[in-house]
Amino acid sequence: MKIAIIVPMAEEAEYYHTNFQFNEIKKYGITEYSHGFIGNNEVFIGLSGIGKVNAAMNITSLLVNEKIDLIFITGSAGALQTNIHQYDLVCPDAFRYFDAHNTMAGDYVEGQIPQEPAEYDLNSMLRDDFIKYLQAKKIRYFSGLAVTGDSFIATFETKNAILKNFPDALCVEMEGAAFAQVASKFGVPLVALRAISDNAANEAAVDFDIFVKNVAKKAASIICDYLKN
Ligand code: ADE
Repeated sequence: MKIAIIVPMAEEAEYYHTNFQFNEIKKYGITEYSHGFIGNNEVFIGLSGIGKVNAAMNITSLLVNEKIDLIFITGSAGALQTNIHQYDLVCPDAFRYFDAHNTMAGDYVEGQIPQEPAEYDLNSMLRDDFIKYLQAKKIRYFSGLAVTGDSFIATFETKNAILKNFPDALCVEMEGAAFAQVASKFGVPLVALRAISDNAANEAAVDFDIFVKNVAKKAASIICDYLKN
């Protein structure tokens, strides 16, 4: 299969580059992908940069140039629920934008861009297969809603405002819904695996810097083992 693995930050990409030899760089427009193989899978490792626009630009330039079968997005996230802690894994089944407030603009729900779906549903046979793998390996994970926006959430106030609109959201990050929006337009399945780096509240910025690399490594190693097998 042809697989894209996209992470927002260099710290989150490090695992892939230290554990695999990617000899070729493929350039699509302004976006570079490291190209190689993990197991029998042809992989394209992308570094998107942070935020929704970078995410959309990055994945679009790949999808217009390559026929990709499956997109993995990995990296870190901030926890929104009290039972979710650092190093925990979230494999979202849907994404919404925490910064899209359009309920007064028409018949829309929180997190929905007008004329877009209420949420980006990630359920697919390929996600089911990955979930089966997690379960078979007894890897603990949370499945549910993740929310995306262009702000790093680092106060209890902003975290609680998000939870008011999305009481069930498991985690917050800055790219997932944008990747999922583009992937859904191209009809390519997307699996997200985020590892928690911080609690999206007052200690978040400090914790993020300390933990981002190691938690992202946890998610990356699971994806690579899955692809090897
Ligand atoms: N990614 C990791 N932690 C985050 C946070 N607190 N807010 C937004 N994105 C994040």
